[in-house]
Amino acid sequence: MEKKPLVVVNGLVRKDAIAYLKEHVDVRQWTEKTVMPRETLKEWLVDADGLWCVRPLDVDGDLVKNAPNLKVIAQAAVGYDNVKIDELTAAGIPYGNTPGVLNETVAELAFTLIATASRRILENANFVKEGRWAQRPSNIKGFDLSRRTLGIIGMGAIGVSISRRARAFGMTVVYHNRNQRIDDKIHKTTYMELDDLLATSDVVCVMAPLTDETYHMCDEAFFKKMKNTALFVNVGRGPIVDTDALINALKTGEIDYAALDVTDPEPLPADHPLLDVENCLIVPHIGSYTDRTRYDMSILTADNIIAGVHKKPLKTCVNE
Ligand code: DGY
Repeated sequence: MEKKPLVVVNGLVRKDAIAYLKEHVDVRQWTEKTVMPRETLKEWLVDADGLWCVRPLDVDGDLVKNAPNLKVIAQAAVGYDNVKIDELTAAGIPYGNTPGVLNETVAELAFTLIATASRRILENANFVKEGRWAQRPSNIKGFDLSRRTLGIIGMGAIGVSISRRARAFGMTVVYHNRNQRIDDKIHKTTYMELDDLLATSDVVCVMAPLTDETYHMCDEAFFKKMKNTALFVNVGRGPIVDTDALINALKTGEIDYAALDVTDPEPLPADHPLLDVENCLIVPHIGSYTDRTRYDMSILTADNIIAGVHKKPLKTCVNE
């Protein structure tokens, strides 16, 4: 019987996706709850045909240098800031991500954060839960979204999905992007330079990928340019924000409130100063975290790997 290709999975992923993968390939999976040691992973990769990578893992030329048979690497995420794409390309290894299938889900989470923060839902709900309905202070008022301006930084497909939701709430949508989009008329969105967007927006939502260019883009000067009444939302990547600058901006009233799906670091340690900031709502990187979407992302990852080990084009390849 012909030997099946061998795929290494360096961490825990959904059982149904592993079962699907096993219909096509042999799987060697790290099933401990601890992070797989990098050196062990390198040893496992020596005779592997594919790698399903699970964060935290830096994927680079060094990881794959002793993996002569490796034909594909894929990860169940649209973002690939932990992957040195150029080094994989130089090694002749295609890398597959999961664009498309999570757009609406991430946009729903982004807009949920905006709506929750704008009406201070958590603070108000806590008063009720604690039996202190009548004692809630009058300054926990929240603000309307209608007739306000949402500024989206990073206007890809997810940004467009967020803009549709914002317009349904009566918001005006402006955005900043590397390039102005050609479909502004269709989406009723307006391109702005970053400084203009910061000065104009009541809600600033970061949806950009993490790159050398966007690392710490949201720094002290950035927050100073925002309105004092503004809400800051990050659904992109934690390190786009200089966390110390954000804490300072929130504490000094430079901005009014923040709602974060992503932080730097992740996970946030229990004694991290961001956790002491009252006007900051944080959820643990759950942008794509619904059962259906995680299933779709996992099956797409498996499909990319199955195609790659058979030297076929990936469904969604970053470096084709
Ligand atoms: C992504 O796909 O990059 C998301 O951040 C994962 O939830």
